[in-house]
Amino acid sequence: MRIADKLTLLFMKRMLAGPRGRSHFLSQVADAENNDEGAVFAALLERAKEDEALHKLVARHAADEERHAELLGARALATGLPRAQVPEHLKLLRRLDEALGGFFGQPLRSNEDVMKAYLLLQVIEERAVTQFPLFKEAFVGLDDETVKVFAEIEVDEERHLKYCQAVAKRYAPSEEVHEKTLQHFREVEAKVFAENSVRNMSYALEQGFLDEAPALVRFGWRLIQLYAAVVKPARPTPYMGVPVQRPILATA
Ligand SMILES: [Fe+2]
Ligand SMILES: [Fe+2]
Repeated sequence: MRIADKLTLLFMKRMLAGPRGRSHFLSQVADAENNDEGAVFAALLERAKEDEALHKLVARHAADEERHAELLGARALATGLPRAQVPEHLKLLRRLDEALGGFFGQPLRSNEDVMKAYLLLQVIEERAVTQFPLFKEAFVGLDDETVKVFAEIEVDEERHLKYCQAVAKRYAPSEEVHEKTLQHFREVEAKVFAENSVRNMSYALEQGFLDEAPALVRFGWRLIQLYAAVVKPARPTPYMGVPVQRPILATA
C-alpha cells in the first residue's frame, strides 16, 4: 500500500469513528455515485439511440450507479443522522469537469466524443477501483453492513472499468488519440483528486469529525493537511502510465 493510501486509511478510521463523520462520508460517496456522472450517461444515451449494444451497456452502467447511490445512501441513514449535505467545494466530479473544460452534459457529436466520455468514466472508475478497497477496510470492525456494501459495489466497479476500456477503444479514431487523451485525463484527475483530498481533510477537521481523537493526533493531521496543501502532491492511481493492451478498431 502506498504511503498516501496508508495515511488515508488512518485518517478515515478516525473520522468514521463518530456518527457525524460516518454520515458525512457515506453521503458524499453516495452523491458521487449518481450526480454528475448522470449527465454523462444522459449524453451517451442520447448519442446511442441508434446503437443498441452501446445503449444497453450505458443503461446498465447508469442503473448500477443509481443502485450504488441508494445502497450507500441507506448506509448513511443507518448512522441515525439525516443525510448530510455535501458542500459544493468537496464535489470531486464537478472539480474534475471544471479542470477538463466543462464536459458533463455536453452533447456527444462524434465517435471521438463518445471515446472522450468513456475515457472520463474510465478515470472515474479507475479511482473507484483504487479507493473502494480502502473504504471497505476503513469500515472493518466499525460497521459490517457497510463493509458488505462496499464489497458488492467493488465487483460492479471492476466490471464498469472493463466496459469503459472496451467502449473507449472501440470509438477511438486512433490508438494515438486514445492514449494521449487517457493519459491527459489521468493526469488531470490525479491533481484534482489530490486537491479534493486536502479540502476533505480540512473540512473533517473543521467540522470536528475527529474531536474524539487526542489533541496531539488532531494537530498531527492538521500538519499533514497543511503540508499537502502547500506541496500539492498529485495522487495518480496505479493505472497511470499503463499502456493500451489490445489493438484498437477505428470506427470513425
Ligand atoms: Fe458506482
Ligand atoms: Fe462505476
